[in-house]
Amino acid sequence: MVMMEKIEQYIKRLIICLQIAKIYTSSHPKFNEGLNAAFDSLTDVLRERQEFTIGIIGGELAYEREIFFELSQKIKSAITVLKKKGIERITFTKGIDKEELSKFIEYLAIPETEQPEDCQKHIVTIGIRNITVGKIKSSEDTGREAEEKIKDSEEYYVESLKTIKASIEDVLGGKAIDGVDFRFNVIGVMENLMKKHNEFLRLAAVKRYDSTTFWHLLNTSILSMYFSWKLGFSKEDFLDISTAAIFHDVGKIFISRKIIQKPGKLSEEEFDIVRSHSALGAQILLKYSQTLGMIVPLVAFEHHLGYNCKGYPKLSFKQAPHTASLIVSICDVYDALTQRRSYKREYSPALIYEIMMKLKGELFHPELLDSFFKILGVWPYGTLILLSDDSVAVVREQNTYDILNPIVEVIFPSEKKSHINLADSSNITIKSFLNPASEGKQYLPLI
Ligand SMILES: [Fe+2]
Ligand SMILES: [Fe+2]
Repeated sequence: MVMMEKIEQYIKRLIICLQIAKIYTSSHPKFNEGLNAAFDSLTDVLRERQEFTIGIIGGELAYEREIFFELSQKIKSAITVLKKKGIERITFTKGIDKEELSKFIEYLAIPETEQPEDCQKHIVTIGIRNITVGKIKSSEDTGREAEEKIKDSEEYYVESLKTIKASIEDVLGGKAIDGVDFRFNVIGVMENLMKKHNEFLRLAAVKRYDSTTFWHLLNTSILSMYFSWKLGFSKEDFLDISTAAIFHDVGKIFISRKIIQKPGKLSEEEFDIVRSHSALGAQILLKYSQTLGMIVPLVAFEHHLGYNCKGYPKLSFKQAPHTASLIVSICDVYDALTQRRSYKREYSPALIYEIMMKLKGELFHPELLDSFFKILGVWPYGTLILLSDDSVAVVREQNTYDILNPIVEVIFPSEKKSHINLADSSNITIKSFLNPASEGKQYLPLI
């Protein structure tokens, strides 16, 4: 192997280990496995060099004057993580031991919000001697830096979504997907969700009315992620559940659009074709079980089976669906109902709640369904509503003791601006819901 290839292999292994560190602790055998592989590659490079530096130039990873264009594309999210930590170059020096590398990877895995101010100072204090980090060129214009920081986090979000979208498209095209980068992005989205879950829920509240399959998959995934996180699942588990949610309807994309979007009633034959999407999706996803895990095809297979097993596909034996399938099924139906229209009007959150509660114990697991509305509220965070006094408000917080009446912030008219706990105010009630894609659109800048 030539030097460039050796360094490229080392970077890949370093990123894999970093991705593992974001899920497991450093005492987990998987982390050790990743660390050993990365350390072997590093030793291999340092056999021929006293030291070497990798840098980030304009969003691309580089070694000396060579830029790793292809690799940079695959690890964009990892590059953003480094940039956000203020790291533009990393130098590795001969004499480095495995423990130092381990500490460095653990340091990189810390979410940005918890990281210390000065990276170089910090890594010295934790005993790392043979790795130095820093900027390539320090900018004097701090104002511009702050601006870039904001742009970066938006970009990070958009990039993550793009990668997820590209992965879905790859699966549909039967291509091999980059499991490392895909999971890295899901983890990135997930970490952001834990820090700023309200922002994500707001995005989901706005985008819920975009009817493309992609948004349906993404919304279902964000909901499943938030729901299972709040239920107390481990990081590893809710990563699996949200990944399964992203792919749950993959089979549908293979079914003719004519049938999926048919406005009138479907014939029994057409219905059967639609019903086949769960088995079809599972079949496609089984090919990716190595990268995505077994929960993903399982959820695709079971998400319409129902708590009472009376849904589809019809099984010759009765077997309760996996908890992940039950969670995704609630989030799936919830998102699908938000897109349903009756007399050209969308279903209000209160109506969706009513419809879903009628299916409690049949399609939905009873306790899970109760928890879902307790966590999300009947009127989810970010929902735009019209109050009985004709002011416009946005839902800001849930009342766990009264899921029908959240705490809202009046945003229009501006002189009325205030927070109201609807559970405590008997004279103000929710009049109607405002669709952020139509009549509520003008109020979005005020949220
Ligand atoms: Fe489905
Ligand atoms: Fe679905």
